[in-house]
Amino acid sequence: MKIVCIGGGPAGLYFGLLMKQLNADHDVTVVERNKPYDTFGWGVVFSDATMDNMRQWDGETADEIQAAFNHWDDIELLFKGRTIRSGGHGFVGIGRKKLLNILQARCERLGVKLVFEREAQSDEDYPDADLVIASDGINSTVRTKYAEVFKPDIVTRPNRYIWLGTHRLYDAFTFDFQRTEHGWFQAHIYKFDDKTTTFIVECPEHVFLAHGLDKADPQQSIDFCEKLFADNLQGHKLMTNARHLRGSAWLNFQRVVCGQWWLKNRHGSHVVLMGDAVHTAHFAIGSGTKLAIEDAIELTRQFQRLGDRPENITEVLSTYQELRRIETLRLQNAAWNAMEWFEVCGQRYCDQLEPEQFMYSMLTRSQRISHENLRLRDKGWLEGYERWFAARAGMARDAALPAVPPMFTPYTLRGTTLKNRVVVSPMAQYSALDGVPGEYHLVHLGARAMGGAGMVVAEMTCPSPDARITPGCPGLWNDTQGAAWKRIVDWVHNHSDARIAVQIGHAGAKGSTRRAWDGIDKPLLADDTEPNWPLISASAQQYLEGVSQVSRSMTRADMDRVTADFVAATRRAAAAGFDWLELHCAHGYLLSSFISPLTNQRGDVYGGCLENRLRYPLEVFCAVREAWPQHLPMSVRISAHDWVEGGITPADAVAIARAFKAAGADLIDCSSGQVSKKEKISFGRMFQTPFADRVRQEAGIATIAVGAISEADHVNSIIAAGRADLCAVARPHLANPAWTLTEAAKIGFTEVMWPQQYRSAKSQMESHFAREKSMAAQAAPARA
Ligand SMILES: Cc1cc2nc3c(=O)[nH]c(=O)nc-3n(C[C@H](O)[C@H](O)[C@H](O)COP(=O)(O)OP(=O)(O)OC[C@H]3O[C@@H](n4cnc5c(N)ncnc54)[C@H](O)[C@@H]3O)c2cc1C
Ligand SMILES: Cc1cc2nc3c(=O)[nH]c(=O)nc-3n(C[C@H](O)[C@H](O)[C@H](O)COP(=O)(O)O)c2cc1C
Repeated sequence: MKIVCIGGGPAGLYFGLLMKQLNADHDVTVVERNKPYDTFGWGVVFSDATMDNMRQWDGETADEIQAAFNHWDDIELLFKGRTIRSGGHGFVGIGRKKLLNILQARCERLGVKLVFEREAQSDEDYPDADLVIASDGINSTVRTKYAEVFKPDIVTRPNRYIWLGTHRLYDAFTFDFQRTEHGWFQAHIYKFDDKTTTFIVECPEHVFLAHGLDKADPQQSIDFCEKLFADNLQGHKLMTNARHLRGSAWLNFQRVVCGQWWLKNRHGSHVVLMGDAVHTAHFAIGSGTKLAIEDAIELTRQFQRLGDRPENITEVLSTYQELRRIETLRLQNAAWNAMEWFEVCGQRYCDQLEPEQFMYSMLTRSQRISHENLRLRDKGWLEGYERWFAARAGMARDAALPAVPPMFTPYTLRGTTLKNRVVVSPMAQYSALDGVPGEYHLVHLGARAMGGAGMVVAEMTCPSPDARITPGCPGLWNDTQGAAWKRIVDWVHNHSDARIAVQIGHAGAKGSTRRAWDGIDKPLLADDTEPNWPLISASAQQYLEGVSQVSRSMTRADMDRVTADFVAATRRAAAAGFDWLELHCAHGYLLSSFISPLTNQRGDVYGGCLENRLRYPLEVFCAVREAWPQHLPMSVRISAHDWVEGGITPADAVAIARAFKAAGADLIDCSSGQVSKKEKISFGRMFQTPFADRVRQEAGIATIAVGAISEADHVNSIIAAGRADLCAVARPHLANPAWTLTEAAKIGFTEVMWPQQYRSAKSQMESHFAREKSMAAQAAPARA
């Protein structure tokens, strides 16, 4: 086959040499516009796993790269005058020039034709090629030429960075954060050969502009950075080799994703994108070179598997695209989280977190490294951090005792102390009669209170009959209901050390529906226990288009009536002895319908801007707060994201949280969605936790994270990083009332109290999990 690679970066060179090695008869040319030694950048890093992959395909190149690598384990943070170091992170770094020179030399030995200082104008420069590899980097002209086919989605990110070098040598991957009068800068620093270190300096656009760096030439930028990081550089200079860049040497990262990776051009040649031309990954997780190399490997693998002949190219390229696209997206997602962390750290973490917690947050920024991953990497450091965290949580503890995982540290708000950070999230059970919680609720909530969580939140409880979602929802609009709740609360207090909360909410336009199992959100049927009742909400609306009842817009008199109902319910909740009250302002229910612009179209002072839309929910909040005992905490559950264009965004959630905080809220429970059926939610592990994190740091109020939190490792990571103060766990508690006790046993934390009647099961469960763990550990090396 005749193969031409446009661009002699890692992708083009490595693919060229692999194909030549696969079959010496292939005619392979790599066309590169630069000279062999003329490249931008300093060092690149990649993981041990990428090296293993390369070794399988070309041992000779892998050995040479390995010999030139700088390997290091530690990550060091320089922050607010402190130096914090943790180990076990395993990176390798190599000079980009060195890497390319090794690949070039290997290409020459194998007979790949290298053409330097030649600018390929287009794929059509090579009409007789069977295969043209567009490995022409992030600004790929081939991709641009065929943009309609390749459908590139290019997002320019807000931060600015400059890629510099220095001769100061560092023995750890170092992050240095410096505050200026206009905001924070961070440097990502890693040595890549005996003499040189990469020194990338990054800051948000507004900080960049405020310092006038948009007008600075490269030398002025270097002078600025040298001054800013003078303590760190210890007299060493910073250097740039971005001489091909015009004007400012500061760049914005561009995230590239393509809908299609290959095509057949009008000469019949197949053209395929590879490396940065088809996808980019932010340097925050240093995987761009890895992706380029692995693209080359996968394409070669498919030629080897399906036959390296022109007639197979279409099938080879289709398979290549299918396989690589998934893998690449996975990595890009992780890179995205890490990149965003660096984009927002100045406004969200630098000023808010103490150095110890800042380090933890930074290490777990991609959300791929969890608490237990950190333990595997550096047990000593993690236990030290756990002790620090527990001390902050008020646990005086003997150093000889094992460290307490963050999940099991206590938490106090006003006069209520929870023994740990797990909350049973409110879950409607649709099993009340006339709004009275019965035997079912006693057993359901009682079992969960015995299951180890710090607090159990009872399901949404309604201040009036028309506030119910279904005829099965419980209420607090009469004293019979109050007494029934008191019986449950007393039971929980007498038989467990869990606290119990009530969530008070009004269903609004989402009321008068069937019990979930009879048709969720659908209006009551004629033969149901009750007829449908009229609905009220911020504005007239129909939740399920063409199906739901249409609600009526509330009048001021309605508002007064509903506020009075909320207050009466609150008094009954206090009399019942609940430890905590949550006001339900989420999920499209009545108070939420005021907050979201999707459901509030009012023209009065309760509609329009967010301040107006919050007016009535805040009125209710203040009235409830007034009626709720001062020594007891109050939280507010919000939908922090409507997941609909034009709806509430996480930035709005910060403003909402600030308003409730100013009104006296102690904590914001950050849920999302269920406001509009048009929502498009990005589900995933801990998918709503970023909202709790953002609200906590930017509004400066405690938060609950909720949503797809399903293991102790999730809870520990969230709490330890300061992304939330508590974690609410819903569905896992339906499956297992003793979820917290089970998770404690799984992670080997034995200092939890089981109900005395159940204690004989505790050690059995603990040894069962310990045995499983040791068997898995024994099996792991055998599999590797
Ligand atoms: C600041 C920064 C730090 C980074 N750090 C890391 C890191 O730590 N680890 C990591 O893995 N990656 C890192 N990367 C990313 C990495 O550099 C790229 O992902 C990787 O080089 C992609 O390889 P490639 O072969 O696809 O593209 P490139 O390396 O960009 O190569 C493309 C080549 O094509 C040539 N070319 C373009 N157009 C033409 C044409 N028309 N004719 C002839 N030649 C052409 C260019 O001169 C260039 O040599 C970093 C990037 C930046 C910007
Ligand atoms: C059966 C069920 C009923 C729910 N009822 C309520 C409720 O009454 N009030 C509320 O705020 N959220 C309610 N939710 C949402 C949960 O509290 C929680 O936010 C959601 O299930 C995500 O958490 P998870 O992934 O741990 O299940 C309910 C969820 C389920 C599964």
